[in-house]
Amino acid sequence: MKHHTKFFFAFFLSVCFCFIYGQLPIIPYPAEIEMSEGHFLLGKETILVAEQEEVLSMADERAKQWETKLGFRLKIGTKLSEMPNSSVVLVINKTINEGIGSEGYQLIINPERAELSANTTAGILYGLETIGQLLDADKEKRLPCGVIIDYPRFSYRGMHLDVSRHFMPIEFIYKVIDFLVMHKMNIFHWHLVDDQGWRLEINKYPKLTGVGAWRVPMPEKHWDDRPLTTDRTHATYGGFYTQDDVKQVVAYAEARNITIIPEIEMPAHVMSALAAYPEFSCTGENLGVPPGGVWPITHIYCAGKEETFEFLENVLTEVMELFPSTYIHIGGDEADKTNWKSCPTCQERMKVEGLENEEELQSYFIHRIERFLNAHGRRIIGWDEILEGGLAPNATVMSWRGEAGGIEAAGMGHQVVMTPGSHCYFDHYQGDPSLEPVAHGGYTTLKKVYLYEPVRAELTTEEGELVLGAQANVWSEFISTPQHAEYMIFPRLSALSEVLWSPKATRDWEDFSERMEIQYKRYADADLNYSLSAFQVKASPRLDPENRRLLVELDSEVFQPEIRFTTDGSAPDIHSTLYRSPVSIAGTARLKAAVFKDEKASGQVMSAHYEIHKAFASQIQIQHPNSPRYNGGGQYGLVDGISGTISFADGKWKGFSGDDLIAVIDLGESMTINTIGLDALQSIASWIFLPLWVSFEVSANGQNFRLLETVQTPYDSESNGKYIQDYGTSEAATDVRYLRITAKNFGVCPPGHSGEGKPAWLFVSEIVVR
Ligand code: ACM
Ligand code: ZN
Repeated sequence: MKHHTKFFFAFFLSVCFCFIYGQLPIIPYPAEIEMSEGHFLLGKETILVAEQEEVLSMADERAKQWETKLGFRLKIGTKLSEMPNSSVVLVINKTINEGIGSEGYQLIINPERAELSANTTAGILYGLETIGQLLDADKEKRLPCGVIIDYPRFSYRGMHLDVSRHFMPIEFIYKVIDFLVMHKMNIFHWHLVDDQGWRLEINKYPKLTGVGAWRVPMPEKHWDDRPLTTDRTHATYGGFYTQDDVKQVVAYAEARNITIIPEIEMPAHVMSALAAYPEFSCTGENLGVPPGGVWPITHIYCAGKEETFEFLENVLTEVMELFPSTYIHIGGDEADKTNWKSCPTCQERMKVEGLENEEELQSYFIHRIERFLNAHGRRIIGWDEILEGGLAPNATVMSWRGEAGGIEAAGMGHQVVMTPGSHCYFDHYQGDPSLEPVAHGGYTTLKKVYLYEPVRAELTTEEGELVLGAQANVWSEFISTPQHAEYMIFPRLSALSEVLWSPKATRDWEDFSERMEIQYKRYADADLNYSLSAFQVKASPRLDPENRRLLVELDSEVFQPEIRFTTDGSAPDIHSTLYRSPVSIAGTARLKAAVFKDEKASGQVMSAHYEIHKAFASQIQIQHPNSPRYNGGGQYGLVDGISGTISFADGKWKGFSGDDLIAVIDLGESMTINTIGLDALQSIASWIFLPLWVSFEVSANGQNFRLLETVQTPYDSESNGKYIQDYGTSEAATDVRYLRITAKNFGVCPPGHSGEGKPAWLFVSEIVVR
């Protein structure tokens, strides 16, 4: 990558050793760099010169901000004509370089001065950010000489924050905006409305926040196990933003090139609104503000009543007064239309409008809101469900259920923002779930985010241009504090910022991971509660059946990691074996590993259990195939020596939806066995239930099986937690070549469960034969 850059910089490095890093320590990486010899030293005499009013306040702010970095406050000058020798000049100059667009900047650094120019204040802001990053990477506070011409690849560089599931104080919103600027991001998508809380003061409908912003706290219960309640006496958890809060934060963001897009969900995810105004639902019932997860979401706005639209138009009128953003996000996701099917008013609407089905009714709903917003000069953006039943003519689609919605919308000529769960959901795990705070699921590491490409290869050039950019989504079901939100956002935002800002051709994971070293330092200096999950060791075991062993590769997402490990269960320290090549495991081992830096373990310790038992890598037949989504370990997954962890999505479990496990194993020769074991996972909130029973049978010929034992599940219906249950035989058996293990699926989810009547999952990971 960047060969001319590398060349110039290598030369530059050999001359002055400015940076310990092999390239400019900037994230996101600039578009074009040409470095030359020498440097510009900032001293007490250096003047930050800004003639134009709009730039002056930025200069002031930076001089203050850099004071701790530099040890002195830069002087401010206002006359370009009276420039002293040592100066940093900021100019808005529309003739400098059209190629840098409305957010780019040009930075020319000579030994005596640095000149930052841009077409707009946004460009100056980003150029100042770059200067700050150059300064904090050099102990002597020098800027390297050369030219940086920088501009973003995408115009939409966003982050979303859900403040409904858990309310976040306004101070945190300001902090988020500051850090978006640091990453040269320009959109903050504020998810202000959802079932569990309405967060925006609306003058015309005071109960939206008077009632809808408050719910009964049930922190002791899992999010998905919290019952509905209309109890208002104990509805003490929540909060909302006043219109004054919003006006101030919008202005603060605007001055920092950040557009705040408010999301006012409809027609679903609005139980908070319906708790306040039940008359806008189909049934008129008051179900309260849900204290936790609701699924499926059937209690939604009635699409038949005119009053619903009048209400929404009044709400949106106030929203437009508060938010100057062209885009208003209207949600549109996950509406279950059950109530619409049985609502006479909704059915009447469908008849009158000639709508074939409830999808078309949703489409009618969204079109109508779009017409209203368009008439006021605004545009709608919505989750990809707004494609169903026909897309509103001027809508922009936010593709979250994978990328299919975005691809479809671009094919229809609509603009899209990519935010697929796989790469952009920052509520997903970023490391080994057994080492992480409880998250929504998934597995989206720093590297995975970095490797995201928003413009899919199957798009034509014209369609590709409709991809405005991408966005991180921070859903807060499992994130109850700003500190935890910071942990989920950083450092993954660094990776996404580079995906969105830097030219595709210059993106390079190794290079980025090296630059992350200084980015972590910046985070630490800023007192952010960032995650060090990228320092975790990741183990990738590979079967070596001929040698009856596993070969375990160890890696991490840190630049050139120093990994040390043990296999006896002890904690690795600086004297433990340094990892150089795959670790051979031929018996039973508890492998522990960590990344070391400065002689200390710098991340959490990875721990995995392996056992090379008698059925290891044996032939195995499974009668009902497991779900391809949960195919832990592939063909040998149940006999690969690797057991699953408490996370059902760790890639080690095989999942069966509604089906039993019936596995027949050929041990290859006749033998005496002492025990057979099977593990199973329970995770009721994820519809995963222990089997009703497990039977263990053996055979000498593969035809006639003899039952050794049937183990009933010690099922405790009160225990809704997550745990792993081991099943096993207790008596030895001789002359055994074949085994048949049956685990009886729980059947269907029980009454009262969110999946009531739907197939239960059975999850198993390893059959251990000793
Ligand atoms: C979403 O994640 N429901 C848009
Ligand atoms: Zn209705």
